[in-house]
Amino acid sequence: MRNRSNRLPGRRTFLTGAVALGATTLLPRGLFADTGWPILRAAPSTAQLAPAGYPATSVWAYATEGAGRVPGPEIRVTAGDRVRRQLANDLPQATAVHWHGIRIDNAMDGAAPLTQAAVAPGASFDYGFIAPDPGTYWYHSHNRGQEQVARGLAGPLIVEDREPWLGLPGAATRELTLVLDDWLLDADAAIVEDRWDDLHAASHDGRMGNTVTVNGAAYPDLPVRPGERLRLRIVNTAIDRIMLLGLPNLSARLIALDGHPVSPRDVETLLLAPAQRADVVIDVPSQDDGTHGLLLDPGNGAWVEVATFRSDGAPVAPGEGEVRPLHAWGTLAPPDTSDPQRERLLMEGGAMRGIAEATYRGERMGFRKLASNGMVWAFNGMAHGMKTPMFRAPLGRTVHLEMVNRSIFPHAIHLHGHHFTVLSRNGAPDPHRDVRDTVLIGGDETLEIAFVADNPGQWMIHCHMLSHQASGMMAWFEVA
Ligand code: C2O
Ligand code: CU
Ligand code: CU
Repeated sequence: MRNRSNRLPGRRTFLTGAVALGATTLLPRGLFADTGWPILRAAPSTAQLAPAGYPATSVWAYATEGAGRVPGPEIRVTAGDRVRRQLANDLPQATAVHWHGIRIDNAMDGAAPLTQAAVAPGASFDYGFIAPDPGTYWYHSHNRGQEQVARGLAGPLIVEDREPWLGLPGAATRELTLVLDDWLLDADAAIVEDRWDDLHAASHDGRMGNTVTVNGAAYPDLPVRPGERLRLRIVNTAIDRIMLLGLPNLSARLIALDGHPVSPRDVETLLLAPAQRADVVIDVPSQDDGTHGLLLDPGNGAWVEVATFRSDGAPVAPGEGEVRPLHAWGTLAPPDTSDPQRERLLMEGGAMRGIAEATYRGERMGFRKLASNGMVWAFNGMAHGMKTPMFRAPLGRTVHLEMVNRSIFPHAIHLHGHHFTVLSRNGAPDPHRDVRDTVLIGGDETLEIAFVADNPGQWMIHCHMLSHQASGMMAWFEVA
C-alpha cells in the first residue's frame, strides 16, 4: 500500500513561478558549439515534479536540446571514450559542472573555485575528458551546490563497459537508470527559495525536502515485463537526504557501488547517501501482472512507495540462475597498504556538539563568529579550508586516511579524482572492501580508507551533504 505521508500539504491555484527567474536573458543557442561540441545548457526551466493536479515547478536544468529537464539529459559513453560538452550558462548565477566519480583530468573537474573559476552568466566553458572506468556516474553543478543542485542541476553520466554485459547468460536483458532526488516544495509545488543558507538545517542533517522524485516525477510507474531481469542504475542526487531504499519481492542483488563492480550480493535494503550510486539486478516474478514498489523510508520507518514497477505484457524468458557479475574492473591497482602515507580527517561541529574554535579564512574564530560567517563545521580545525591543502601526496603514493566523525550526524565524504577502498569501520575490517568515491560515516564513527594518489592535481574532499559542504566541510588535497 502506498503511504502518502510525504505528499505535499495541499493543492492550490497556479503558481507564477517563472516570473521570479525571468531576469536571465536567454541567448539563442544552437545544439552545437563553434567547436562542434554538443552544448550542455544550464538554464531556468519547468518540470512536473509533483503528482498530477499540482502545478509545474520552476527549476534550473540542463538541456542538450529544447527545454531543460530534471534530471539532466543522460550522457552515455563507452569506457575510454572522450566526453565533450560545452557548458553554456544561461542561469542568473555563475556555475560549473563537476563530473562526479570520474577519475578525470584535474583541469576538467569543474570544482569551482579550485580547478576553475565559476562560469559567469552568459559565458561558456568547454569540458573534454576521458571517462576511464565503466559504471554509473553523474554530473552536477559545483558552484553554490546547496542551491544549484537543489534547483535541479544534476544528471546521470553512464559509462558503458567496452565489453557488453547486458544479454550475457545470467546478466540482465535491459537496464533502467533511476535518478532519485529530494525537493523542498511549498503547497503550490514551488521550490522553497528563501532558505538556501539556513544554518539551522546546515547544523543538523541539512535541507530535507518533502517530495522525492524518480527521474523527475513523483510516484512514477515503471513498466516491466513478467520474468524480466533488469539492471537498475540508482543515483541519489539529493543535496542532503540519505535514502534508505527497499526493493521487496524482486530478488534484488547488488552488483556495483559508485560504479565499481562488487560480487553480486543479496540486498533487502540499500542505504544511499547523497551522491552515491548502486547498481542492482532485479528479477520480476514471471507469473505476475502485479506491481512492485521501490520503497523509501523517509526517516520515520514508514516506507513510501516512490516508484512502482508495473508488470505488464507477455512474460519474457526469466533471468537464468545466479546473477552474472559485471566484468572485473581492470584499471585501478588495489592499494598496497603496507607502508602508506597516513593522514587524518577529523570532523567536528553541528548541533549538540558544535566546535569551540576553528580557522576560517586564516583567522582563528570562536563558535559565534564562525556561525556569523555561515560556518558550523570543520575539518581538522579548519572551516572551509580552501587556503592550503589538507595534505599533499607524491604521485603514485598510497594514502591511508583515517576519518573520525566527532559529530552526532552522519556525513557522506567524497574525494575528487580518485576512488578509494573502505578498509574498516570503527576498527572492524570492512567485509566487502568496497571501492567507492563517496562513503557514509555515521555519528561518532571512525572509518579507514586507502587510495593510490595516482591522479595529479588539486582535488576537493568534502561532505556531499551540500548544506554541510557550504557551512564548512570542504577542503582539498594535492597530488604532485
Ligand atoms: Cu559530487 Cu565535489 O562533488
Ligand atoms: Cu566529485
Ligand atoms: Cu556532512
